[in-house]
Amino acid sequence: MINQNETPLYDALVNNKTKHPISFHVPGHKYGQVFSERGKEDYSSLLSIDATEITGLDDLHAPDGVIEKAQKLAAHYFNSDFTYFLINGTTVGNLSMILSFCVPGDEIIVQRNSHKSVLNGLELAGAKPVFLGPVFEEDTQRHSKITLHSVQRALKEHPEAKAVFLTYPDYFGRTYALGEIIAEVHAHGLPVCIDEAHGVHFQLGEPFPSPALKEGADLVVQSAHKMAPAMTMSSFLHVQGERIDQMRLEHYLQVLQSSSPSYPLMASLDLARSFLAQWNHLNKQQALTSIQEVRQVFASYEEHWSVLPLSPYDDPLKMTLQTKRNSGYEVMRVLEKMDIHPELATSDQILLIFGLAPSVEIHELNQRLNKVDSQLKKSNNRATINVDQLSFPEIQILEMAYSEMQRTPAERVNWSEADDYVAAEAVIPYPPGIPLLMKGERITDDHRNRVFSLIKQGARFQNVAIEKGIRVFKGE
Ligand SMILES: Cc1ncc(COP(=O)(O)O)c(C=O)c1O
Repeated sequence: MINQNETPLYDALVNNKTKHPISFHVPGHKYGQVFSERGKEDYSSLLSIDATEITGLDDLHAPDGVIEKAQKLAAHYFNSDFTYFLINGTTVGNLSMILSFCVPGDEIIVQRNSHKSVLNGLELAGAKPVFLGPVFEEDTQRHSKITLHSVQRALKEHPEAKAVFLTYPDYFGRTYALGEIIAEVHAHGLPVCIDEAHGVHFQLGEPFPSPALKEGADLVVQSAHKMAPAMTMSSFLHVQGERIDQMRLEHYLQVLQSSSPSYPLMASLDLARSFLAQWNHLNKQQALTSIQEVRQVFASYEEHWSVLPLSPYDDPLKMTLQTKRNSGYEVMRVLEKMDIHPELATSDQILLIFGLAPSVEIHELNQRLNKVDSQLKKSNNRATINVDQLSFPEIQILEMAYSEMQRTPAERVNWSEADDYVAAEAVIPYPPGIPLLMKGERITDDHRNRVFSLIKQGARFQNVAIEKGIRVFKGE
């Protein structure tokens, strides 16, 4: 009989700790006894469970003990056939999923607005991506979902594709009718991989959108650390059905993940799964009531933003502010100055994320927002809002194959000279980490204008000195 209250991996670590073991093995901090005095107080409780693969604590790469038990409990809770614990986030899940499907030159159908880890996975695999352009949604004012029509077209035009790779939900918690798309892909005999980084809690049922596994996905990766209470970098990777070569998937998981996986991270997955499994009606009421209160507080500052309403396709743990007078970046800067920290800003929106239990003190929030209000009244500046003018083709392939890019020398040029060259680096505002320009895509005026507009508004990029230029392939 499976009991979701159990946390076998965490319990094994606590049990080990209570024996006060004399450690003649790594890690060098010896359960916290040898550590910088400066950080000892903050780290000590965590270091006492920061063990390694000693007898009784199993091995992530060949589990047959407490890790296997903990993964089985997770598989049972999420209704998967098999669940893996990941210690390098959804990033490593995305890389491994793609590598498990594609050898160099293989086509794979991929949503254009994917996280950069998906693009990196395509490049590592030497795959030939067929990108599906997201459509602009009026109610959210964003490019988000892809359509059944675009999937049907891609399947027809690229019958050799090995898999379809989608993101569900988007960063802002918006979902779409995934089940009908998966059914269509399955009818063509292909598997569907889902980056569900932001949807681990969909397993809790209404009012959350339906989880990707329930919609029929074959492989699903979820950042447990994003929307459930797990430690940063911990994720679940779920397998369902017969379309997956699990041995190949496991091969890439052990290629890409550390041979010394962190036990505090893995145990936090065990605890997070148990937390979700025990989340009951009362917890739901408390969380939703608190969210409603916070939404009302924000809604009362209507001069500066509107709070976007929730549709059945939206995750209620996400709240989007549509800014009215100042850009999203400017409003976020003022909020941060008052120690209110949103998840991210775009030109005209700000995303705030709630947890699964109340964590905001309303009186304190109101006091800080009053100060935000006064600051914003002083700096109202409508002219700086410059919204998303890009549009994406329904289906797009890269100008150069990844193998060709590897052989072609790249050079950095000023933006004024970059037009019509193929980009040798992606340009990715971070967060949300979704590419504005992909490596291998031809650079146009639109890209350049958008990059400069975002820089002006205060967006952050991970590219070195992006304002000065971009790396391009000159010899193509
Ligand atoms: C849609 C999406 N996929 C994947 C990732 C990467 O996840 P992780 O941070 O767990 O590696 C992110 C991170 O922001 C994301 O937003």
